[in-house]
Amino acid sequence: MANKTILVTGGAGYIGSHACVELLEAGFQVVVVDNLVNSKAESLARVEKITGKSLVFKHLDIRDKAALQQVFADYPISAVIHFAGLKAVGESCQQPLNYYHNNVYGTLVLTEVMQAANVKQLIFSSSATVYGADACNPYTEDMPLGAINPYGRSKAMVEDILRDLSEADRLNQSTNPWKIALLRYFNPIGAHSSGLIGEDPNGIPNNLLPYVSQVAIGKLAQLSVFGDDYPTPDGTGIRDYIHVVDLVKGHIKAIDTLAGEVFAQGGCKAYNLGTGQGYSVLDIVNAFERVTGRTINYKIAPRRAGDLAECFANPALALEELGWQVEKGLDDMVADTWHWQSNNPNGYEA
Ligand code: NAD
Ligand code: WQD
Repeated sequence: MANKTILVTGGAGYIGSHACVELLEAGFQVVVVDNLVNSKAESLARVEKITGKSLVFKHLDIRDKAALQQVFADYPISAVIHFAGLKAVGESCQQPLNYYHNNVYGTLVLTEVMQAANVKQLIFSSSATVYGADACNPYTEDMPLGAINPYGRSKAMVEDILRDLSEADRLNQSTNPWKIALLRYFNPIGAHSSGLIGEDPNGIPNNLLPYVSQVAIGKLAQLSVFGDDYPTPDGTGIRDYIHVVDLVKGHIKAIDTLAGEVFAQGGCKAYNLGTGQGYSVLDIVNAFERVTGRTINYKIAPRRAGDLAECFANPALALEELGWQVEKGLDDMVADTWHWQSNNPNGYEA
């Protein structure tokens, strides 16, 4: 493993920067490509500070085929972790072409370049959002898919493309078949324990934890709890929150798994990365108040369109085949979110 070079697309972003830390600490060489559309290069400087190791950063858009080809020509890449993409559900409804162009076409360019370079090990950032409303809790990987917004459909389309690519190699009896892990993330939260890297959303956050932590620090006045009439114990929505450091450790396990017995004949397989434990919105608010000693001002508001009552993973397949399980609990997630937010009230802005 040591000295293997991993290409990390979107490596300057929230999850990508945490992945870079774990990769460097595990002894990999890291090449990041990112167009910084939703991140700052400062995150990568912080990664180097945490690890005491350096990485290569190329400021480029993955849709720039020639630039991407040059990266594969310049570095001995053995596998790719593909985080680059746009991720805001509401924005995807307003700008569907932008989302399909970035997430779907971007992945087409990446896989074409990988195939031409004969680099065929890929870990893709998918999402629990690909599951349909007919899936039931806890979600297993074989449940029906049916994303309900352009963002989710862009992830589902990429999953289809990657399955087709793998199937073509099986039909063609390729001697170097594609080996692809589709990692379906549930709700990543938290930050590195150093407090140096974390989630730095642009503008007013859409997601619960960044919103709660900005209320706690006084940047936002009040949290709206979207619905208290769901069929859940306290009436608020339940999600499977997972510490971002546990999540990225699943990617390191996936690199090993792609190179091992499970993928000996190639293939494309999906794995849930969640804890298997659901928490409600009010559980999160209460945990945040208990761990930080701050009061979270909130009000009950109407349900948000498109939200499910409850969504949590069965992560058994990831344990069985990737050898991965979470190590951190809700208090770690909340404490690390707060450590990052309170040390960096304006994110990566000086
Ligand atoms: P992020 O926005 O922080 O990171 C994505 C990175 O990709 C950013 O640094 C951005 O600048 C870069 N990028 C976007 N388009 C690019 C392009 N065309 N070329 C090069 N770089 C590009 O998001 P994140 O939370 O770190 O998410 C990483 C991945 O995980 C995304 O694909 C996202 O859809 C997926 N995901 C995220 C969540 C979540 O809740 N955060 C859940 C499920 C899946
Ligand atoms: C969590 C819970 C809200 C904000 C989204 C994407 C999904 C994935 C992860 C990428 C829900 C409630 C939230 C607020 C609230 N991303 N909430 N007040 O919706 O589960 O998932 O992020 O793949 O695709 O849809 O996460 O953090 O937005 O919401 O009450 O201000 O918090 O209703 O129950 P969600 P979230």
